[in-house]
Amino acid sequence: MVFDDAKSSRWNVFEFPRITDPRGDLTFLEGGNHIPFDIARVYYLYNVPVDADRGGHGHRDLQQVIFALSGSFRITLDDGAVRQEYLLRNPRQGLYLTGKVWREIDLFSQGAVCMVLASLPYDEADYLRDYNDFLTYARNTG
Ligand code: TYD
Repeated sequence: MVFDDAKSSRWNVFEFPRITDPRGDLTFLEGGNHIPFDIARVYYLYNVPVDADRGGHGHRDLQQVIFALSGSFRITLDDGAVRQEYLLRNPRQGLYLTGKVWREIDLFSQGAVCMVLASLPYDEADYLRDYNDFLTYARNTG
């Protein structure tokens, strides 16, 4: 299921299946079924100070799905034309980002865990760490 409040075609919130049980909830993701790319990498942020700022960069081609597995955080997205903020806090939902999205993550709650599924192995060459470089790249590549 996809929520349609996205202001850009470069991001969407997906809602994944949930199996509810008196013993707790279970959500599952199958590669090739629920995730629109082959998962090449998983990483997660934890022990994040509540006043930390993460992100602050764009990517050229990387696709990602970002989850708040525990707690919450704010993620601000920018495609070079529009900005949109999401407060992620539902472990059943994942924020899908295509390439050419600038992202900033802050307002972490105590104990928040941010898990990211990524379409490519880590490659510093895919990063755009300067906002003006990101804007130039995003606008020149359509
Ligand atoms: P960075 O992507 O800048 O962190 P964030 O966007 O969450 O603030 O990465 C921080 C450091 O970790 C940087 O030195 C690169 C390294 N890193 C890896 O080695 N592999 C990875 O998969 C990621 C995401 C980062």
